[in-house]
Amino acid sequence: MQDKIIQYTAEAEAFNLNTTEDSEAFRIKYLSKNGLLNLLFEEFKTLPNDQKKVCGQLLNTLKTVVNNKFNAFQESEKGEVQNKEVHDLSLESTYSNYGSRHPMSLVRNEIIQIFSHIGFTVAEGPEIEDDWHIFSALNFQADHPAKDMQDTFFIEQNPDIALRTHTSSVQVRLMQTQKPPLRAIMPGRVYRNEAISARAHCFFHQVEGLYIDKDVSFADLKQILLYFAKEMFGNDTDIRLRPSYFPFTEPSAEMDISCTICKGKGCAMCKKTGWVEILGCGMVDPNVLENCGIDSTVYSGYAFGMGIERITNLKYSVKDLRLFSENDIRFLKQFENAI
Ligand code: DAH
Repeated sequence: MQDKIIQYTAEAEAFNLNTTEDSEAFRIKYLSKNGLLNLLFEEFKTLPNDQKKVCGQLLNTLKTVVNNKFNAFQESEKGEVQNKEVHDLSLESTYSNYGSRHPMSLVRNEIIQIFSHIGFTVAEGPEIEDDWHIFSALNFQADHPAKDMQDTFFIEQNPDIALRTHTSSVQVRLMQTQKPPLRAIMPGRVYRNEAISARAHCFFHQVEGLYIDKDVSFADLKQILLYFAKEMFGNDTDIRLRPSYFPFTEPSAEMDISCTICKGKGCAMCKKTGWVEILGCGMVDPNVLENCGIDSTVYSGYAFGMGIERITNLKYSVKDLRLFSENDIRFLKQFENAI
């Protein structure tokens, strides 16, 4: 048996191990269940005791030679595969599928940009608010229809708490916590108890604007709204203000812009009038200033509020409000290249 083991050891050392096929043949020959090593160890058990010592040593040497050779090849093969993976610069790169900004975010960011250029900061407030911040401080009478259960989502356990119906509540928080001069816009989500349709939703987005200082006039308001309309919709955009009513502004107005689609000639978008309404505005009512701890004999200010969905509709012709919250990838993908 000794000679046999010595011969197998020499053969194993000389075995040409270059390819994966070679390594498989080597494994089958020496290391498989019926391979030489197992057969020799079986035979070893039957040897008379006086031969066991020498044969045992020789067998262990063969085992070591076979294992070392096999393992070394496996390692080198693994290394080669890894090297190929790391260094093959000709391989095509794989691109991750980046998402795109939601059209509402695009428009909100653009509004923030436009106002930040003229010194407006951004302020935020809670979506779950108390009655005082949403209504009372803003000069709403206790029986104002906006407070009706049909319009406002109240919290069942506490009728004093509701989901804010407009971002004007953030005005109040700002005036309460900071001293004039104040100049901020307040973007955010608002909620109203409306049946969901193409034209109405139970939640939507607004941007509120507020400027409080000494000697602020309606002319200042007009100027800044004209600036905004031209920045947002193009330099050839005109504005017009129509008298209106809001409890928290006096005087109040609604602002139209010349129709972005037909440029004032009259089309379906502007219902043939050439104008589309985009926001409400006015001079902050002195009662509101006083409610928030600002001396109305010293300070005055203007405020405005617009719906972001409305602006997005005009900018990107998105007519069905539901598209904004359905997350249909076919809709969202269309804004991939928008800045
Ligand atoms: N809060 C009003 C709304 O939700 C929008 C608004 C109108 C805000 C006039 C104002 C404003 O700040 O002055 O319809």
